[in-house]
Amino acid sequence: MLFRLALVLPCLAAGFVAPSQQTPRSTVLSATVEKELVPPRDLDELSKELEGTQQLYDNVQTTYGRYPLTMVSGNGCRLTTNDDTEFLDFVSGIATCALGHNNPALAKAVSDQMQKVHHVSNLYYVPAQAALATWLCENSVADKAFFCNSGAEANEAAIKLARRHASNNGITHPVIISAHQSFHGRTMAALTATAQPKYHKGFGFGGKMIPGFEYVTYNNIEELEQLVEKIVSEQPADGKQGLAAIMMEALQGEGGIKPGNPEFFAKARELCDKHGALLMCDEVQVGMGRTGTLWGYENLDVIPDVFTSAKALGGGVPIGAMMARGDAATVFGPGDHASTYGGNPLACAAGVAVAKYLSDNNVLANVRARGEQIREGLEAVAAKYPTVLGDVRGWGLIRGVEAISDDIPAGKIVGAAMEQGLLLVPAGTNVVRFVPPLIVTEAEVNEALEKFEKAVQQLAN
Ligand SMILES: Cc1ncc(COP(=O)(O)O)c(C=O)c1O
Repeated sequence: MLFRLALVLPCLAAGFVAPSQQTPRSTVLSATVEKELVPPRDLDELSKELEGTQQLYDNVQTTYGRYPLTMVSGNGCRLTTNDDTEFLDFVSGIATCALGHNNPALAKAVSDQMQKVHHVSNLYYVPAQAALATWLCENSVADKAFFCNSGAEANEAAIKLARRHASNNGITHPVIISAHQSFHGRTMAALTATAQPKYHKGFGFGGKMIPGFEYVTYNNIEELEQLVEKIVSEQPADGKQGLAAIMMEALQGEGGIKPGNPEFFAKARELCDKHGALLMCDEVQVGMGRTGTLWGYENLDVIPDVFTSAKALGGGVPIGAMMARGDAATVFGPGDHASTYGGNPLACAAGVAVAKYLSDNNVLANVRARGEQIREGLEAVAAKYPTVLGDVRGWGLIRGVEAISDDIPAGKIVGAAMEQGLLLVPAGTNVVRFVPPLIVTEAEVNEALEKFEKAVQQLAN
């Protein structure tokens, strides 16, 4: 669509030296010092680029497969591309832009903070950090927050906390249980907890990821009981093995929009209590209101010791948090864990703005009402096209519909919806995911359902 012409940038060619021709390091360094820096390209100009877009990204590592779209502005649930095409956004930066795009309160909070002070490090007090931590604790089961910058980092902090907690209890070989098809992030420990072999491929040591992780089938109580029994009964010769934590998403997002089962979580809670372990909920995708309650665990009537948040926490401004309650909240002391950017004034000001908006505008009620509207709408479309669509699942504004035809996989449906002007994103291998901003209106949901139906109809015929 947008990649018609190749555009080779002279500066890319000029800066590149093949490894075999490289001069010794000292010469290269002095040459760099003497040379004037190449200025960055003009952002406005780059944003307008329609032809040869792909070449502009030659210096970006190819870790992502991208749709051929360049978003240049947004408003509420709408995004506009550089060729002035408007899309209804039911992706929201992958369940992140809770308040939609260009929210005035969020923009003002970040801009105001930027003009005061945006980063000082955790050597000093940061009022926005205190305000956000207080709001998070007053509106959850947690007693204390640790701030970081992403979901993976929040989970990494939770994993470290679980290990230290176990170590304090004399366990030298702490085991963390997570679920098959889970997703916890791409840093090494969070990735090890992510029980999806495709993400582990090529990152092991002797074929193994980080030791101390075991996996069960999500929602399978019997498997969980057996695995815990195995962990506590098998002891190494050189120490004490024990259950450190059970770490689960309240609803598996990337795994295909699979809600947790309250009985499974109740059993996990019971086993953690029995063995002095921590129940840890990954709320990165479902937290901050997406399920219609502030936290996903509230849908399961379970109290975790630790939960993690990111994505919607800053409404699209990068921030993560690892929340802990009771004994778990005092496991870390000064120097035990840290992050340079963690809890910086800018990100926390964004978090406070999101928190205030959710509190002042009864957003959770909207999530519940719009979520039901999407569920009913999707079930109606699925009933009309039973050979294309299957199960409709989810809570609040995280909904998925299964693509059951081999000929019409989820990716194809997402592509057809895009042609209709609706942005969606697959989840797992065969689910089409609907995660609009939490402020989506009734009219926008109706419009999305119409566009979705047209897309399915087109593919089915
Ligand atoms: C449940 C869950 N945990 C963790 C992560 C990782 O978050 P991040 O990409 O911010 O590191 C994700 C991202 O999709 C997620 O859905």
